[in-house]
Amino acid sequence: MSDARDALAFLRANRDRHLRELRAFIAIPSVSTLAEHRDDVRRAADWLAVRLSTIGMTDVKVLPTRGHPVVYGEWLRAGRTAPTVLIYGHYDVQPVDPLELWTMPPFVPEQRGDHLYGRGASDMKGQVAASLNAVEAVMHTGALPVNIKWLLEGEEEIGSEHLGEFIRAHKRQLACDFCLNPDAGMLAPDKPTITTGLRGLAYFELKVFGPTKDLHSGMFGGVVHNPAQVLAELIAGMHDRHGKVTLPGFYERVRPLGRVEREAFRRLPVSDRQLRAVTGAPKLWGEPKFLSAERIGARPTLEVNGLLSGFTGDGSKTVLPAVAMAKLSCRLVPDQTPRETERQLRTYLKLRAPKTIRWTLTALHSADPVLTDPDSPGVRALAAALQATWGKRPYFKREGGSIGAVGLLRQHLGIDSVLTGFGLPDDAIHSPNERLHLPTWQRGTEALARLFSSCG
Ligand code: BES
Ligand code: MN
Repeated sequence: MSDARDALAFLRANRDRHLRELRAFIAIPSVSTLAEHRDDVRRAADWLAVRLSTIGMTDVKVLPTRGHPVVYGEWLRAGRTAPTVLIYGHYDVQPVDPLELWTMPPFVPEQRGDHLYGRGASDMKGQVAASLNAVEAVMHTGALPVNIKWLLEGEEEIGSEHLGEFIRAHKRQLACDFCLNPDAGMLAPDKPTITTGLRGLAYFELKVFGPTKDLHSGMFGGVVHNPAQVLAELIAGMHDRHGKVTLPGFYERVRPLGRVEREAFRRLPVSDRQLRAVTGAPKLWGEPKFLSAERIGARPTLEVNGLLSGFTGDGSKTVLPAVAMAKLSCRLVPDQTPRETERQLRTYLKLRAPKTIRWTLTALHSADPVLTDPDSPGVRALAAALQATWGKRPYFKREGGSIGAVGLLRQHLGIDSVLTGFGLPDDAIHSPNERLHLPTWQRGTEALARLFSSCG
């Protein structure tokens, strides 16, 4: 077992360089969903490959998929009897819009006080950099007691569409004891967290078609059913007055929460006041019988992610639109499945849609809900590393976000993920002015260095 002390000293001595490198990584606008950023996504992959090689990884490759590439690297010199950790990360980021709400250009990272601002700073280039820096530090100051493999994808933010295929084609290469996934965040700067569950996701595009072209709303209003109105009514019917989703059978497979689980949720330091502060919403909303932490971690939802129809520019236009479109998604919990959710949504639409319109539903992407083992060797090693770093035991929490890779690794390789991360609730991930709390990032990096020097 190597001593983490030297690794921690290395991290402190290299802080400025590591920060410069993180800024360079964030400066690459690797927005996976936008075709115009394809080359930037590729540049981020290349940047990572160079960094992996520099810290001494072998067999570093940027491997193509039918979408954005996967970056792979390994270091297997700890030997056959040592455990192997697969470190997962994603180097793609969300779009920046609405751009006008950013107080700086999203890809020109800017440090203000303790925060580094920029798209992807927290989700999750900062977390990938923390992992790289921690491995570098342990390797530099003595031999790593564990074998390391890297699985760095460029399509997490668009549903990891080609990752399943990739994992199936690289089973041998990805074989490991567990996957470390630092994409799940933590509760607060003084509350190290291990995440034991993620919600799944089923994402859809719903289109409602009426007349064959946009019409004069005076000449035809009153005889042609307005698709925007129909879409609004369909959407409005998807929840009841108590915040429950009305799709037929939606809750049938939802595992009820046991007494012990509810007790654990009740003990979590998640307050409605903090949620109001972070979101700025005037009042919280949701199923009244469940605590906020339960509604986020253990209850399914249906959200409208976007709406488009008719005239939305400045001024006015008297139009009866030909189409209306909504982006809808459901967050799922065990044992719901994306496929069954799609069937339920189709059934709902068949029952409710009037004959005056035509509709189409397209499933865009999905992720399975997951629960991870809260007491595996990997979790124990991470818990010890977090405790050594923060001086307190980590919190265990089920999170509301989704990460496709976790379900895919389990499905195709039977591998469990150890979920953690050093992003904070007020990092504004996916929002304007995303930021990373640098002291927490550095602490998290130290915790990972402790993990890698101990888990042999
Ligand atoms: N890091 C997040 C997921 C996350 C957020 C986990 C908060 C735990 C707490 C990840 O990058 C993400 O945003 N995932 C997408 C996945 C989707 C597109 C399949 C999500 O959850 O919307
Ligand atoms: Mn994200």
